[in-house]
Amino acid sequence: MKSLLLIISFAFTLVYQSANIASDEVSDPEQNYAAYCASCHGIKMDAFVDRRWKYGSTDADLIKAIKIGYDDDGMPGFAETFSDKEIQELVDYIQAGIANVDQYSFESADASSTIKTEELIIRLDTVAQGFDIPWGLTILDDGSMLIAEQGGTLYKKTVDGALKSISGTPTVKSRGQGGLMDIEVDPDYKNNGWIYLAYSKPKPSGNEATTAIVRGRINQSGAFVDQEELFEALPYSSRNHHYGVRMEFDNDGYLFFSVGDRGDRNNNPQSLDNHCGKIHRIHPDGSIPKDNPFVDTPGAMPTIYAYGNRNPQGVALNPIDGSIWSNEHGPRGGDEINIIHKGKNYGWPVISYGINYNGTTFTEKTQQAGMEEPVMYWLPSIGVCGMTFVTSDRYQGWENNVLSGSLRFKYLERAVIKNNKIVHQEKLLENIGRLRVVEVGPDGYIYVGVESPGMILKLVPVY
Ligand code: HEC
Repeated sequence: MKSLLLIISFAFTLVYQSANIASDEVSDPEQNYAAYCASCHGIKMDAFVDRRWKYGSTDADLIKAIKIGYDDDGMPGFAETFSDKEIQELVDYIQAGIANVDQYSFESADASSTIKTEELIIRLDTVAQGFDIPWGLTILDDGSMLIAEQGGTLYKKTVDGALKSISGTPTVKSRGQGGLMDIEVDPDYKNNGWIYLAYSKPKPSGNEATTAIVRGRINQSGAFVDQEELFEALPYSSRNHHYGVRMEFDNDGYLFFSVGDRGDRNNNPQSLDNHCGKIHRIHPDGSIPKDNPFVDTPGAMPTIYAYGNRNPQGVALNPIDGSIWSNEHGPRGGDEINIIHKGKNYGWPVISYGINYNGTTFTEKTQQAGMEEPVMYWLPSIGVCGMTFVTSDRYQGWENNVLSGSLRFKYLERAVIKNNKIVHQEKLLENIGRLRVVEVGPDGYIYVGVESPGMILKLVPVY
């Protein structure tokens, strides 16, 4: 474990340094890869392993992908960034890397090993496995759990340990960043049984999809029934990225959720006539709160609560004051944590701490009148995903801290808040795997979902 951590922190330092090198200084393929590709494909090329190549695996296929990109899938083109020689070197580097990659360096969580953190010693228990990417997670009062696998299956892990797939859930477009995504249960779940699912909804024909939310109930025979669609984001898009979508109920029973900019930063986030690049607020039955900020603005989508967001992957209720917090992906650099205030503009893409994936800048501005600045941002981007506050008293020293997952660097970030500022950060569970989701259960324990192979792990403090 110790040597593993050493290797990881070394890799981390490498990424950190190379990501900060200006584009005219970079030359060798390892640095280029770390600076331009690792944020999405992983520093150890994890994303290229254990998968079928979509567009072919020959040198020519890779060169084409890197040069032109696959815009609809969220793969940027790098023709203007690299010379042909540099692209060929990158291809050689990737081909060699795939041959050598050590796929799952984190051996599945071992109940006997403990992890020392600044405040606590933690044991990790594997509480569910047998799926691929656990995007959404909800722990129910009886200790059973619901797991939304991005591929489209909703699982229920019963208290006796069986993992069952639930039939009758909506058809998803499982491609790129889309699929079955977040799950929430109604604040009054005990009495009404409502379960909320967020997903990428395909059009009946063609290849367009959008972010949608339904609710339904799981009946005795394990089927999702009584389905009602609550929200459908407009416009649909053929792009397969930046769907959002995290949901959270606040203390007054409103349902908040995020929709990403769908890769159209120029038209969507700053304009109120569409749903994309926004945080929305609705009643649990899908109706629109009368005091939503833009209900009286002509042409504005009435569900909008805040706008100017890029791709929020965490929405969480702050237990201290009941405010809604969100984390979102910046481009290369500039992942953010924001406090979501009614009617406010979060500035994407006008202000940002990030730069384009190909190294060019799109804005010099990090602030502008009328636009909110983040509570915190990450440089380089950590690929932030999932968010929760530590609402229980099981973790001494972590009370009311905010936790965010890192897909890219594979850890859980703990941030200490004072007067709405982040005053301290700690990296937990380093090298645990791409950390997609973090939740606190009704039992007060923190649960995290990591990817490929998918696992749900429970953080048990050991005193
Ligand atoms: C913004 C995220 C992002 C960045 C940055 C990025 N890629 Fe990609 N790349 C993707 C996505 C998304 C795909 C689509 C395939 C998939 O879903 O895995 C892709 C596809 C590819 C493919 C084709 C894979 C296949 O299945 O055929 C190659 C090769 C590739 N990327 C190489 C690179 C290289 C080299 C870099 C750095 C110069 C890079 N990418 C940077 C997101 C990214």
